Amino acid sequence: MLLDTLIFDPSPCGFPRPRLPLLPVGFAGIAFAAPPAWVPAAHFRHFSRGRYALREAYRLAGIGPGSTLFAPAYHCRTMLDPALALGAGVALYPLRPDLSPDLAALDALFDAAPTPVKALLATHFFGIARDFAALADWCAGRNVTLIEDASHAFFTQQHRPPAIGGFGAFVVSSPYKFLPSPDGGLLYAKDARHLQGLNPAAAGWGDELRGIVGFWQKTRSHQRPDIATLDAELAAIAAHPCRPVIDRRELAGTSADYSSARAGRASLRFSRLICRHPDIEFIIQKRRDNYQRWSMATMNLPYCRPLYPELPEGCIPYMFPLIIDQAETHFYWLKRLGVPIWRWDSMAAATCPTATHYRLHLLHLPCHQSLDESEMDWMISALTKVGAGGTALLQARQ
Ligand SMILES: Cc1ncc(COP(=O)(O)O)c(C=O)c1O
Repeated sequence: MLLDTLIFDPSPCGFPRPRLPLLPVGFAGIAFAAPPAWVPAAHFRHFSRGRYALREAYRLAGIGPGSTLFAPAYHCRTMLDPALALGAGVALYPLRPDLSPDLAALDALFDAAPTPVKALLATHFFGIARDFAALADWCAGRNVTLIEDASHAFFTQQHRPPAIGGFGAFVVSSPYKFLPSPDGGLLYAKDARHLQGLNPAAAGWGDELRGIVGFWQKTRSHQRPDIATLDAELAAIAAHPCRPVIDRRELAGTSADYSSARAGRASLRFSRLICRHPDIEFIIQKRRDNYQRWSMATMNLPYCRPLYPELPEGCIPYMFPLIIDQAETHFYWLKRLGVPIWRWDSMAAATCPTATHYRLHLLHLPCHQSLDESEMDWMISALTKVGAGGTALLQARQ
């Protein structure tokens, strides 16, 4: 299937590689002891990424040719890829500014779907637990399978965050976003019988070895950036106009980040070993502390605002979502400085105003447990200088 898709290609900008890791690296978050699993292993299957776990959840829900998946209008393309690869249609449901589903819009969308709606994907964005009880009722009333997307939640075989994982028939997560494992995508089924006969193919020993080598390389691949040189670096960047990006719209199928050849493959044994040994308290505390540092540093700045300034009790954040006003210059400068940022700037086109605005204005900034105080200081300084000083530099140039 093809979807009307907005594609942002920053290759003309020559952005350097991020100076700090976007995801955890090294040994931070790994414990010696292995906590017990919270339900028997029969409820889980392990894949190399969440997108391949999603593929199985979609397939088990009846997604395939002649069916429709409901997915959130704000999304990473890998959330839709598996449905497109299975030959299904995708309809995007709108979200409110806090990224919760707009329930009032679902009925009209359901009535307009060209093929039967078999599954709905509901996401706990950035690890903020959403109450999907009403959504679960809506799905149950229409024979639609609810799939909970816990890719941004610390949802593993050993740990389940409060209020996440109890709504969907299937739950999918990405343990590699919370632990320094080379890969990992988890499928949980409320009813373990659904998973009978689903046996992901074990990785080869060559892949295992590459995973271990990659793990070691990542522990030493970043050099601590220096706050003292930030002003000069920013002045040098702001002295020249931003190079134009390629922002196009086209009918597109699966993204380059989805490989049908990798579907059905199990995660590395090495990754699963790491995921069985999480230092749960450390991960929770460090992520919450880093998130709160971001929030304190940005909540009163005039050119940006945290999407969720308050971190709910018990929440284990994935990243810190920050809305910026000047998407073009500020994003460009931050990327040129090497600040680690994710942004979902390529996505299927939707009429949802939240998704339209967040595509270019919502930054995902890391708050994981491998970041130390000086690294957090550097990122916060870069953001503050880009916002304040960068704007002054731009005015001086005009
Ligand atoms: C909310 C969400 N769901 C699902 C996925 C797919 O997860 P994975 O990267 O493990 O394939 C992503 C990808 O980043 C995501 O952000």
